[in-house]
Amino acid sequence: MKKDIQIGYEHFKSINELNETEKKLFESAKQARKNAYAPYSNFLVGCSVLLENGDIYTGNNQENAAFPSGLCAERTALFWIGANFPNEKIKKIFIIGGPREDSENTPPIPPCGACRQSLMEYETKQNENIDVYFSSLNEEVYKVNSIKDLLPFYFDATFL
Ligand code: THU
Repeated sequence: MKKDIQIGYEHFKSINELNETEKKLFESAKQARKNAYAPYSNFLVGCSVLLENGDIYTGNNQENAAFPSGLCAERTALFWIGANFPNEKIKKIFIIGGPREDSENTPPIPPCGACRQSLMEYETKQNENIDVYFSSLNEEVYKVNSIKDLLPFYFDATFL
């Protein structure tokens, strides 16, 4: 029998529709994107992460000549936060991606599958949802209230 899964998301035509905290996260991610080390793909991704204590940390993609050795912006930030603030809950992550040139015409860039899986791990660990925003320099934004909306049929520790 065929069944449907419903996921929820919000779409904002511009960052002007976001609140002040969200705008701040957009700006932080945009700033972080500038420091991406992406000489091979020339695709720059930055992200900002809001913790429960109000602090914001950022990450960007870090590539390597041995291609698989690099890491996405989201996991660069998440693993650093996990390493340094293991007990601090993650409230929101804001992602901005696009090619080095001409990013103004790029649509919102969603997180890759591996980053969704990592985000799911932290959402499960803290037992509280994480808001995920993804955008680009064209300032259009998508938002989900939980990684579950990005990763139906997710694999987690309950299967181990
Ligand atoms: N990338 C990210 O940083 N995050 C994603 O979710 C998608 C892809 C990076 C990896 C690589 O450095 C470049 O973008 C092109 O795939």
